[in-house]
Amino acid sequence: MGQTIVLIGANGQLGTDIVKVLEKKSGIHLIKLTHKDMDICDQVDTRRILVSHKPDIVINTAAFHKTDECEDNPEKAFQVNSFAVRNLAMVCRDLDAVLVHLSTDYVFGGDKERKTPYTEDERPFPLSAYGVSKVAGEYFVQTLCPKYFVVRSSALFGLAGSIGKGGNFVETMLKLAREEKPIRVVNDQFTSPTFTEDLAMKIVQLIETKNYGLYHITNNGECSWFDFAKTIFELSNLSPDLQPTTTEAFGARANRPRYSVLARKNLASIGLDDMRSWKDAVKDYLEKSRNRK
Ligand SMILES: NC(=O)c1ccc[n+]([C@@H]2O[C@H](COP(=O)([O-])OP(=O)(O)OC[C@H]3O[C@@H](n4cnc5c(N)ncnc54)[C@H](OP(=O)(O)O)[C@@H]3O)[C@@H](O)[C@H]2O)c1
Repeated sequence: MGQTIVLIGANGQLGTDIVKVLEKKSGIHLIKLTHKDMDICDQVDTRRILVSHKPDIVINTAAFHKTDECEDNPEKAFQVNSFAVRNLAMVCRDLDAVLVHLSTDYVFGGDKERKTPYTEDERPFPLSAYGVSKVAGEYFVQTLCPKYFVVRSSALFGLAGSIGKGGNFVETMLKLAREEKPIRVVNDQFTSPTFTEDLAMKIVQLIETKNYGLYHITNNGECSWFDFAKTIFELSNLSPDLQPTTTEAFGARANRPRYSVLARKNLASIGLDDMRSWKDAVKDYLEKSRNRK
């Protein structure tokens, strides 16, 4: 008999690519839930809907991840990223289902001198309401649901665009270049840009195993957000007025990690770490994005 998979956030940036990967597989009954179908903050309704589908696996990509808005509205950040996730974990436990939950590199950052990638064994030290709310969500999953995959990733870009953020970093940069605006991007925050197609493919490979646990999954390599922007323009043959800036000068409302690169130690330990470089992924994204227009 096939597996029933419930995907929460099915029309989001990552969710859209998970749908594409799962729909190519046989023997899977995929239930795609959008925010309109189910609000994970309505805990009673969420339990009722999940129980009615009798899932073997629940994948939660839903989140409140606008980092500055989370800082202004920590209650909402905790409602969506922590308490709703606690409910999902308890429902999955009660149904004996696997819970796949997405988290972020922003669970790190407190170590200001850090220059080497964080492994899954290291203790989180978030700097923002968003990061704290995501850590709380992770801990609820790990303590309440016996069969879980918590997957941390970073700086996502996907063809569906990040609905919650109204685009993604690549699209924002291209838009600013088209408008011929001066572009200032921080050169003192380092991460690993990650294509949601690559992340989706790897999540699906991972859940085909029974190696439950915490995983870092990103494209390979690291860069500052400024380098990320520079690469996007080079690969698009654009030369806008791009200048590096500092975190202080940029002055965002929420604190962000200076360095939050993730080491894929657990993925490597089960022989699944073949993630391509972030530059190859950006190139592929831009080609696919051009072909869609
Ligand atoms: N984006 C990044 O750069 C990034 C980096 C690291 C980790 N992550 C994590 O990766 C995951 C996926 O991110 P993404 O970029 O794919 O996000 P996304 O495009 O915003 O997708 C999230 C989806 O969840 C839905 N959603 C939001 N609140 C919900 C709620 N209360 N109930 C039900 N559905 C809800 C959204 O619908 P509406 O838009 O209609 O509300 C959206 O379709 C998140 O867990 C995020 O924390 C993201």
